Amino acid sequence: MELADVPQVSAIDRESFPTLWPPPAFKDELLHNRIARYLVAWEVEERYRGPPPATPAADLNSGEGGLLHKVRRLFSRRPEPEPPPARILGFVGVWFMVDEAHITTIAVGERHRRQGIGELLLIAALELSLQRQARVSTLEVRASNSPAQALYEKYAFAKVGVRPKYYTDNNEDAFIMTTDVLSAPAYQAHFQELKRRLFAAFPGGQRPTIALT
Ligand SMILES: CC(C)(COP(=O)(O)OP(=O)(O)OC[C@H]1O[C@@H](n2cnc3c(N)ncnc32)[C@H](O)[C@@H]1OP(=O)(O)O)[C@@H](O)C(=O)NCCC(=O)NCCS
Repeated sequence: MELADVPQVSAIDRESFPTLWPPPAFKDELLHNRIARYLVAWEVEERYRGPPPATPAADLNSGEGGLLHKVRRLFSRRPEPEPPPARILGFVGVWFMVDEAHITTIAVGERHRRQGIGELLLIAALELSLQRQARVSTLEVRASNSPAQALYEKYAFAKVGVRPKYYTDNNEDAFIMTTDVLSAPAYQAHFQELKRRLFAAFPGGQRPTIALT
């Protein structure tokens, strides 16, 4: 996540956690919290995905890559339009504390749920955690939030405790959920298999890329 992403991320946060006040200060987190890392899932419009296809010989004077188009561009006073900013679909936040990677937040925009984006974000957070040599990943989740619990259970987070009345807006309990040791062969086998299945389920040209740098 970069500073320019904050307005889109805040909008997703508002629709995902409407009762939380004050809202999270993403800008401060990005600028000042040295143990925090935030990742976003974004979509690039089809026509900006890669280099344009080579212009076929028969089509030299027409279309975007054609000679006429290039000449017009050369003499046009108007600059070529910039690609629009990528559309952010969801985000995840992780705090790295000693040997634990604490997932502090994860959300997907309402219109994009149930398409594997939450899973993709969780995979990215867990890969980053492994890269940072976190031993385990842990989080709190509302007792009533069964969609999120199902996601975490799929990735072998187990309920290991309860924080009574943890959420002050409605006094709801939080479950504490934690993974096994992330680098353990059994965990990695499970994780890699889930990742393989998820990636295979994305339609051909839309295979996601995970970039953690
Ligand atoms: C939780 C959340 C991030 C899941 O994102 P998503 O993109 O819809 O999830 P995915 O499509 O990747 O689903 C992955 C898995 O999560 C579980 N899941 C997600 N939504 C679910 C739902 N509505 N009901 C049951 N299980 C659900 C399933 O196990 C699913 O795997 P499956 O497709 O094999 O059944 C999303 O619902 C969300 O943003 N909720 C609001 C914010 C929130 O509650 N965050 C969690 C705070 S602890």
